[in-house]
Amino acid sequence: MRQRIWEALVFLLLAMLLKPVSTRPHWRPSEAHDSAASYCLSWRLAVEANDIYAWRTVPTQCLKHVENYMTGGQYERDLNFIMEHIIDYIDTIEVSDDGLDAWILDVDDTCISNLIYYRRKRFGCDPYDPDGFKRWALRGGCPAIPAVLRLFNKLVGRGFKVFLVTGRDEATLGQATLDNLQNQGFIGYQSLILRSMAYKGQSAVKYKSEIRSQLEEGEGYRIWGNVGDQWSDLQGNCTGNRAFKLPNPMYFVP
Ligand SMILES: *[C@@H]1O[C@H](CO)[C@@H](O)[C@H](O)[C@H]1NC(C)=O
Ligand SMILES: [Mg+2]
Repeated sequence: MRQRIWEALVFLLLAMLLKPVSTRPHWRPSEAHDSAASYCLSWRLAVEANDIYAWRTVPTQCLKHVENYMTGGQYERDLNFIMEHIIDYIDTIEVSDDGLDAWILDVDDTCISNLIYYRRKRFGCDPYDPDGFKRWALRGGCPAIPAVLRLFNKLVGRGFKVFLVTGRDEATLGQATLDNLQNQGFIGYQSLILRSMAYKGQSAVKYKSEIRSQLEEGEGYRIWGNVGDQWSDLQGNCTGNRAFKLPNPMYFVP
């Protein structure tokens, strides 16, 4: 009897000692991976929510995370998901026949994608390279973002006046941008507005606000929606009835 009790006690003691060991996280070989993945999820959420301001590069430990997000299918799924909601909203709008129902779309990483370029920049882990980006943009080879092209065609079909507003420099990138949009099927918009000399050096918020204010207050357009991958596309004045932020964990434009 005493022997049995003794055995039971030893067994209990061993069970108590071993249980926490087997679940201690540092025994799991994937712990380092898990904590990086979870850090990068938090980082990306904070970036998308505009809780981290003026960040310059993607943290190096998040290179794989951002690469997987951008190229592994989730980015496209997020865009398609957002697009369904934008299209539900569009379907509630009664488009007037006065021709003043307007919609604003940003260009870079909204209508057309710079993912091919940013792949070479380690998905934003490398710092912004204005000359490199200019050379890339001059080639006019940015592919359309399919979900946004569908939205664009829907807007044009419904009779909205679509304005493409970009911070790209008009003098140097105007023609390449026009050609690029055309070769990717963005046909039927009202106008492409690029950054002219007058806005050189201004923040995107200020420049884009002034453009929208000219459209609304100067020309009488009603801005029903505004879509961009940067918060600076959507902030400021005359922001429109609804603003839609598209994902972009690769760079921040102030
Ligand atoms: C918004 O409008 C106000 C009043 O006109 C102006 O002072 C301010 O600079 C504008 N903000 C931006 C970001 O353009
Ligand atoms: Mg953009």
